[in-house]
Amino acid sequence: MATMKQWKTPPRALAGVTVAGFVLAAGCGDKQNAVQSLDVPDTAVTWCSEIEAIFAAHCTRCHASTKQGAERNGAPPNVNFDSYDAAVPNASLAFNLMQSGAMPLGGERVPADELALVSAWQEQGTPRCDATGD
Ligand code: HEC
Repeated sequence: MATMKQWKTPPRALAGVTVAGFVLAAGCGDKQNAVQSLDVPDTAVTWCSEIEAIFAAHCTRCHASTKQGAERNGAPPNVNFDSYDAAVPNASLAFNLMQSGAMPLGGERVPADELALVSAWQEQGTPRCDATGD
C-alpha cells in the first residue's frame, strides 16, 4: 500500500482496479475447481488398452450386465460399462457425468489423467483395440 504514492494515478482509481483484479482472480479459481482442465493425449487410446480398466475401476460396481436388481444400486438396467458394445452408446454421457463429478455416484471423482484418456478415446472415435485386435 505504501508504494501507491509512487504512482501518478489518483489513489482512489488505483484501489478500484485492485479490487476488480482480486474478484476476477477468485472467480477463475472457482471455475477450475468445477471443471478440471484436461491434458488430452494424442497417442492412440483404445477400449482394450486403457478404457475398459477405467470403467472397471469406477463404474462396473453398479453398471455391469452381470449385476441385477439390488446389486446395481439403482443404476439403470440398460446402462452398462462392462463390455465395449454396452459402453460405446453411453460414452459421451459417461464422460460428461465423470467430468461433472455426478458419476461415480457416491464415489471419488475419476482422476484428471483418466478423464483425459476417456476424452481422447472419444475424439478418436471410440476404437475397440488396435488395428490387429478384434
Ligand atoms: C454406486 C453405484 C454407481 C456407480 C459406482 C456408478 N453409477 Fe452411474 N448411475 C447410478 C445410478 C443409481 C444411476 C441412475 C440415477 C442417476 O442418473 O443419478 C446412474 C446413472 C448413470 C448414467 C445414466 C444417466 C442418464 O441420465 O441416463 C450413466 C451414463 C452413468 N450412470 C455413468 C456412470 C459412470 C461412467 C460411472 C463410473 C465413472 C458410474 N456411472 C458409476 C449408480 C452408479
